[in-house]
Amino acid sequence: MKRVKISEILREPKLGTETIVKGWVRAFRSNRFIQLNDGSTINTLQAVVDFEQFDESVLKKITTGAAVGLKGLLVESQGSGQSVELQVSEVEIIGEANPDDVQKTVMQPKKHSLEFLREQAHLRFRTNTFGAVFRIRHAVSFAIHEFFNQRGFYYIHTPIITGSDAEGAGEMFRVTTLDPTNPPLNEDGSVNYKEDFFGKPVNLTVSGQLEGELAALALGQIYTFGPTFRAENSNTSRHLAEFWMIEPEVAFNDIHDNMDLAEDMLKYICSYVMNHFADDLKFLSDREATEQQSKPQNERTELSLIERLQFVTSNDFKRITYTEAIDILRNSNHYKKKKFQYEVDWGTDLQSEHERYLVEKEFKRPVIITDYPASFKAFYMRRNDHSEPGRETVAAMDILFPGIGEMVGGSQREERLDVLKEKCAAFHIPEEDLWWYLDTRRFGSVPHAGFGLGFERMVMFVTGMSNIRDVIPFPRTPQNAEF
Ligand code: 4AD
Ligand code: MG
Repeated sequence: MKRVKISEILREPKLGTETIVKGWVRAFRSNRFIQLNDGSTINTLQAVVDFEQFDESVLKKITTGAAVGLKGLLVESQGSGQSVELQVSEVEIIGEANPDDVQKTVMQPKKHSLEFLREQAHLRFRTNTFGAVFRIRHAVSFAIHEFFNQRGFYYIHTPIITGSDAEGAGEMFRVTTLDPTNPPLNEDGSVNYKEDFFGKPVNLTVSGQLEGELAALALGQIYTFGPTFRAENSNTSRHLAEFWMIEPEVAFNDIHDNMDLAEDMLKYICSYVMNHFADDLKFLSDREATEQQSKPQNERTELSLIERLQFVTSNDFKRITYTEAIDILRNSNHYKKKKFQYEVDWGTDLQSEHERYLVEKEFKRPVIITDYPASFKAFYMRRNDHSEPGRETVAAMDILFPGIGEMVGGSQREERLDVLKEKCAAFHIPEEDLWWYLDTRRFGSVPHAGFGLGFERMVMFVTGMSNIRDVIPFPRTPQNAEF
């Protein structure tokens, strides 16, 4: 007989049939009621043992955290709280868990802080909260693949080891096989990377975009979905040193098509999770609602998690230019009362306090900001023909979300070879390093656009978790690479 997953049993209980389930004991009450979870759903199956039928030595091993196999008859439940239960006739102890040791772990069924759970990231999968978070993480990932597949995009794998710094921020992790205590040196004392594995300095990628563009300029529409690495020393609740990014790139798209695509994708993800992972979502929504009660009124969210997802799917995102954003900020009471810590001046980047004001106070919805000053955006973004004199802007777009900040960053790309060369010079990027990228502008160059979605930030939004470390199984942050 094959085991049946608890999700299947609860969805379509075959009452009166002999059934085998296998999973981990969440609780064993009164030597009689086992709550069994097998990870297929947030819900547990109640299994009832008649203790007179079993040896004391077996019953003693049915403890929280232990793995067991149970065989029995599926019947309508006598008690309240569940519709079916398993009348156990056979118990197999698959993996014991010492109760004294379990006491010290997050498996002990009581409320634990998220910080404590993080210290036991290897066991936190066993908790309801993290079970729900990681099932939804899967859902988001699957929804993204489904979204692009339905629209005829091709999934491209771009390299993880690369010699180029696409974003130009210089925040990269070096990959080398040289001995750090005794590297080969050039005559001038610098490290001789010709002797390194790849014969040149290489890093972990910060983005798959540049390679993605090459593919888009032949396959038409592609997307990447891979790990990216940033050695930025930002210890915030929204930054990871290793995170996953989705980067679609579409030939012949302009910045407006790009915004439409991103908005459709984000809405699709929210709908998908609501339609397919309702139990986990409800659990997380209720969990958040309980947490909210212990917070001061002004820090509570107005809408529940589920309401926020519904809001995103049923309302248009607000679209404004950077110049409009600056005007709105400077005309706000918040600004006049000097409540912003950072300056609001045309030409300086928006700080997260400004983004939050626009999204959470002014528009109360996702906001797409376009046409940023060229000075603080990446070299590959298309120079706007409609820039005002002295205020050069590029066809960039950032999508800001309530509670998260920047969710998506993208742009129409500079497809004109001469302008792109000028930009390389201005950004001190040697053309020989990017000869392959520039080549695409030589042979049938076309307007094209794309964006990057920070996968974990999206998972934060749909799970309501407020720290990015709690939506990736094993977070990598400054000074932390445990597990
Ligand atoms: O805005 P970014 O830097 O854009 C790019 O990398 C472009 N190459 C994308 C493109 O046009 N193809 O990063 C994209 C997104 C951000 O909007 C943010 O959501 C996320 O990646 N992100 C991070 N997420 C977690 N931790 C970090 N350190 C992140 N840095 C960026
Ligand atoms: Mg960005």
